[in-house]
Amino acid sequence: MELPPLRRLEHPDIAEILVYPDITAAAQAAADRIAGLVREKPAAVITYATGQTMIPVYAALARIVAAGQADFRRTTAFHLDERYPCPETNPVSFAGYIRERVLIPFGIPATQAYLLNGAAADPAAEASRYNGLIARFDVDLTIVGFGPLPGVHIGFNEQGTPFDAETHYTELAAETKERDRNRGEEVINGAITLGPRTIFASRKIIGIAYGADKGDGLAKALYGPVSPAVVASGLRQPGVGEKTTIIIDEPAAGKLKTGNL
Ligand code: GLP
Repeated sequence: MELPPLRRLEHPDIAEILVYPDITAAAQAAADRIAGLVREKPAAVITYATGQTMIPVYAALARIVAAGQADFRRTTAFHLDERYPCPETNPVSFAGYIRERVLIPFGIPATQAYLLNGAAADPAAEASRYNGLIARFDVDLTIVGFGPLPGVHIGFNEQGTPFDAETHYTELAAETKERDRNRGEEVINGAITLGPRTIFASRKIIGIAYGADKGDGLAKALYGPVSPAVVASGLRQPGVGEKTTIIIDEPAAGKLKTGNL
């Protein structure tokens, strides 16, 4: 059962924008939605975002799984991105995050989990390996968070990444490194990320954001031009927006009220 939203925001390109009162409710609703998809399709292929936004979502999902209300054991897991160079043992590794917060608590077998190797000798070769792997699957759901302005990345697709780019190595944008520094995290200059093409090809996309700062970024993505200058704006493309659900809290929604930036 999914928590009913406080309200829905209408948008010409995006199927659903659901507003919840706070982070806890938004995260629970996102978890309920993801669990519902797995109940409908027990062998679902899911690409997971990482980052702070997803911590309460995956914690809520872990509770759903522990309560026996969803079974992820037949699902297949990919993730959006990994820092580079960054072995899984580094506390800022996203592969480590996925193992700890997704694979183990959800009971997804290692044979159905495809993790990026941030310690690979050649990041371009690792990107190509991962691209080839995910290309063999039809991804049912991709979960995305949103990066800082001005690029509003999804995955680590930084400002200017073409919408048809595939998995690639990238240097991180200055604002992304600034964000990490402000969070007191080790700043790593590069990353390997799924490209927008793969993200947008997913059967369903769920984007999640909390807080006024993320609301500012989402406002640009939702009401500004559709352009790689604001990567998340690509979610509004024909064929993509129709399968996209955005789940936000009230402070983020407060930035989306006018709709005419
Ligand atoms: C991160 C990752 C994404 C994440 C996004 C938002 O750095 N590249 O997987 O969704 O940026 O992160 P956060 O939720 O920590 O703000």
